[in-house]
Amino acid sequence: MPKKFQSLSGMHDVFGYQFDYFERVREVVLKNAKIYGFHGFEMPIAENKEVFTRGVGKHTDIVEKEMYSFKTKGGDDISLRPEGTAPIMRAYIEHGLYTRPQPVKFFYFAPFFRYERPQAGRYRQFWQFGFESIGKGGPVVDAQIIVLVYNILKELGVCDVVVEINNMGDDVCRGEFKKVLKKYLKKNSSFLCEDCKKRKDKNPLRVLDCKKCVKIKEEAPQIVDYLCDSCEEDFKSVLEFLEELKIPYDLNPFLVRGLDYYMGTVYEFFARRKDEESPSFALGGGGRYDGLAELLGDEVRPATGVAMGVERVVELMRENKVILESEKPQVFIAQLGELAKKKALVLFEELKKSGISVSESFGQDSLKSQISRADKMGAFLTIIIGKEEAVEDRMILRDMDSGEQEKIKTSGAVKEIKERIKKSKKK
Ligand code: HAM
Repeated sequence: MPKKFQSLSGMHDVFGYQFDYFERVREVVLKNAKIYGFHGFEMPIAENKEVFTRGVGKHTDIVEKEMYSFKTKGGDDISLRPEGTAPIMRAYIEHGLYTRPQPVKFFYFAPFFRYERPQAGRYRQFWQFGFESIGKGGPVVDAQIIVLVYNILKELGVCDVVVEINNMGDDVCRGEFKKVLKKYLKKNSSFLCEDCKKRKDKNPLRVLDCKKCVKIKEEAPQIVDYLCDSCEEDFKSVLEFLEELKIPYDLNPFLVRGLDYYMGTVYEFFARRKDEESPSFALGGGGRYDGLAELLGDEVRPATGVAMGVERVVELMRENKVILESEKPQVFIAQLGELAKKKALVLFEELKKSGISVSESFGQDSLKSQISRADKMGAFLTIIIGKEEAVEDRMILRDMDSGEQEKIKTSGAVKEIKERIKKSKKK
């Protein structure tokens, strides 16, 4: 027998309900991007490796452990993109986009690659949608990007969302904080996990984000106590804007994000899951990255952005039983018996032609399961053609809300159904 293949570990096919949800997310992202003035951006799948080692940071998990990097036949070191912010900043510099009216605002919806240990909600190829605003910034831009994502999630039916927020300080105040933190970590290194024992000197901030090192945080110094006046002012303004916009947020002094380019305000979106047993995960996150352009060879450019994990958003849409409009037929046709099947097939075409959204499950023979499918799909009317009705040239109309049924003649049925749909819309 020839070998059968499976997709690579951590890389998954997108089809069926997941594809439909993906399309819905894309549609809502596109619509909102337009409203908020973001333009589409397609970046290459691979970049010069240094875009990430310098941009995201040599000592981050992404660069140290998770990149798909290789040498090309021409001898170049390249990496599959693990994220989109550094490539967009590379493009901003390469194309001299600082000469355009600022800020330049881009959005993307694309797959990314990280060699992580596959587990629930964590893949090696995953999709993100993201927004980046580069060239002119300030707290109001951060707040607007947060409200934009919040609105998108709400529109997608992912409602119980909270924003965890922190300020990581700028180069000056963070430098001071790092010194204090390093000292504290050195003194308490017996409480650190093996990874953090290595991180504590090279990347001490990441220790604060470690899920294993909980104890160490109890007495750890907090960056908010070390912010300079301008960072403190900036942070206060972002929080005031969020209050004004009624966006629920929680201050999280240990939120540091896993990428080195951040400075100032950072945040993550968390969903409060209904099932408390399910692990809670960040749907996405972002923040200010004014220093990234400089890391990539340009100068400091005010910049801010966010990226959301599409699989994670889709998972929550599924959990919240979000019904997609396109999936929700106005009418469902159920049938029983060969003659009924024939009549149902013809009726299906007639209804479609007259612009009615209609669904069926002709492969199923049990009436009970067809009606339960109609119910699950959210149809407002089910047409039932059983053996008897097929012979009589009639059909049963079942109102799915009230359960009331009425037999009508096949001739003139389309007109009758249209009228019922019209009436239901007025209710
Ligand atoms: P990030 O926090 O690394 O940020 O990723 C954002 C989101 O992408 C995560 O919260 C998660 O939902 C999703 N994600 C990340 N890794 C995986 C994975 N292995 N499997 C499934 N989903 C994943 C960034 O990427 C920054 N570029 C965000 C940003 C944009 N900051 C400023 N602008």
